[in-house]
Amino acid sequence: MRIEVLLLPSQKPKLDSYDLVAVIDTLRATTVIVRAIEAGAMGIYPVKSISEAKHFKEIVPNALLAGERKAFKIKGFDLGNSPLEFTKENVSGKNVILTTTNGTKAANIYQNYGRVVAMALSNVKAVANYSKNFQNLLLVCAGSHGEVSLEDSYTAGKFVSFFEMVSLNDGAMLAREISGSDSMNVLKISHHGRYLSSIGMGADLEESLVERNTIPILKTDMINLKFFGGER
Ligand code: MLT
Repeated sequence: MRIEVLLLPSQKPKLDSYDLVAVIDTLRATTVIVRAIEAGAMGIYPVKSISEAKHFKEIVPNALLAGERKAFKIKGFDLGNSPLEFTKENVSGKNVILTTTNGTKAANIYQNYGRVVAMALSNVKAVANYSKNFQNLLLVCAGSHGEVSLEDSYTAGKFVSFFEMVSLNDGAMLAREISGSDSMNVLKISHHGRYLSSIGMGADLEESLVERNTIPILKTDMINLKFFGGER
């Protein structure tokens, strides 16, 4: 097995294709996608911009509009980007169009490199378990505004630490080095974790640590790319 970690989505992958590509935006896009699918959402469309989200809503009028800018709910949208909002009551049986600053963009970049899944701290164990028979794995950290983010690198490191005797790139080794740290402490000291706490969204950090078995998979439905749960 070979695990390659890109600490930023702008890094270039070594191979043209992988058995699995795990996109990571621990605070908070992939945590939201995992929770939404687990809460029974029919699917999550990760889109890059607010205008794309609004345009898409015209094509899928019953879908909920969700997302953030500067971590706050976008004006006129149904939901923001707090995992706590993605309850059964709010999303079960519904499609959700999601646009976030970094995470949904990263999900779009890697669609041609293999099967893309959404990974966060919540489902890192489930994704590791799912990956155990794969040969080539790519983990892509969304980062924050072009900068490496501690919590995404940490999640990648947690994934790597489930495996022994694997070939790792330097990004994967670096991530593994920090994987022994305390999860809550990592989220609390991270730049984005501190920002979320400062705007009253500190509870999202705790929610990010709730273990979940769901593995959202990015596939195209008749219309566009969408994260589905269920069948793998
Ligand atoms: C992102 O995609 O940058 C994040 O999910 C931001 C956030 O915390 O909402």
